[in-house]
Amino acid sequence: MTRRLRKLLAPQGSVDALAGSRIAGWALGRGALTVEARLGDRCIASGEPSIPRPDVAHAYPDRRGAATSGFAFELPDGAVPPDAMAELQIVARPKQPWLPAAVLASSHVAGNRLAKTLGEAGDSGIVGPFPKRVIDAIAAVWPDECTDLGSTEGQARFLSRLQRIMQTPGLNALPVFADYARYLTTTLAHCRFVERHFPASNVRSDAGATDFHCKPNSVSEIFAIVHQLYVLKSWGLAGDFAEFGCFKGYSSAMLSFACAQLGLRMHIFDSFEGLPPAPGSGYEAGQYAGSLDEVRDHVTRFGAVDSVTFHKGFFADTFRNWRPPQLMCLWMDVDLEVSSRDLMVIADALDPRASLFSHECTADIFQQGRIVARPSPDNPIPPMLERHEQMGRPLTGRYIAGYTGAFWPITTGIPVVSTSALGDFLRTLPS
Ligand SMILES: C[S@@+](CC[C@H](N)C(=O)[O-])C[C@H]1O[C@@H](n2cnc3c(N)ncnc32)[C@H](O)[C@@H]1O
Repeated sequence: MTRRLRKLLAPQGSVDALAGSRIAGWALGRGALTVEARLGDRCIASGEPSIPRPDVAHAYPDRRGAATSGFAFELPDGAVPPDAMAELQIVARPKQPWLPAAVLASSHVAGNRLAKTLGEAGDSGIVGPFPKRVIDAIAAVWPDECTDLGSTEGQARFLSRLQRIMQTPGLNALPVFADYARYLTTTLAHCRFVERHFPASNVRSDAGATDFHCKPNSVSEIFAIVHQLYVLKSWGLAGDFAEFGCFKGYSSAMLSFACAQLGLRMHIFDSFEGLPPAPGSGYEAGQYAGSLDEVRDHVTRFGAVDSVTFHKGFFADTFRNWRPPQLMCLWMDVDLEVSSRDLMVIADALDPRASLFSHECTADIFQQGRIVARPSPDNPIPPMLERHEQMGRPLTGRYIAGYTGAFWPITTGIPVVSTSALGDFLRTLPS
């Protein structure tokens, strides 16, 4: 049978409701048909269209059977083991065996105890780059999928289970999963809005200048921080979030919105006059300048300005006699070794489990958990590593994307998720 003929002869229909064990919808074929609920090659329940559907009759006035094409039936108790998930298909099968069948819908379904087991999971003792309660819930049922949360492969396995949960009615409504999904979809949509609408060029600079482009980071780079803020909060870290180096406020717009979602305070530290002098760095003093008014205006229009406290001044001056409150995470995009050295005096305000993100990173500096960065006037990484060594909290980390890397204390830190594993998962969430 050709594909065209198959399409012409196959039943049409739709599943309108798959709630609890009840399945309802409509199906219309070329003659009598049965609607089956199938788990793999097993038919576990079936029904025949017989319920009045005036809407279908209206849409298909010339088709026999359209007026009574509605069906509804129940799945039997215990078809799926209590703590398991399975893939259910709803198939419309003509009674004439030579006519083709059609899959009307497929969905993940859960055993009748699974929601309770996931929703009431206790502390698993497993630490990883995901929200604590999400790890605990998944570990309560699938401990093998939580054994290697440090590697990209282990994270991908964990996220593939989470993806199926997020697509399963009855499980995806549990607060532990729905809250996380809401944060991810809301903040990702917002980052994409900022990426699209934020002014692209620096009116104060010439085309071709280093600071002509006002959107120096990608969504993948900033979203790694957005994700980690949710993770850190879930692990009970107290304290604020700090951004060092905001230029026109592009990353600030994305991150302030995330902070507003989480009820976190965000501090933005910048000279608002651009870079300080740094001989031998290749940069000039005053590059990357955004005035406080300009940044405040951008964060108001593109982010969540009420979550932000601005601190104007060169870091060396700001931190001469003052320290910020406790911090759970910092993001620095400061271009210069000297600027990193000047701001790293605040490192003792970081929670011992805090995460740090920095621009000016390439993938090759992350070598099997070690960070190899050579001192240079345009490299802000060595002062960060040195300061943490001095504090007795040596750092490890991973490459994120673009020029961004993530860092956390080897022994106490909460690791940061792999960008490729997270990206694959985010693509499966509805936008
Ligand atoms: C590359 S830009 C930051 C880009 C920003 N993340 C964005 O998304 O547009 C570098 C910023 O760091 C600031 N900066 C660098 N060194 C500084 C210092 N020592 N004190 C204060 N601000 C500094 C500059 O004023 C500039 O705004």
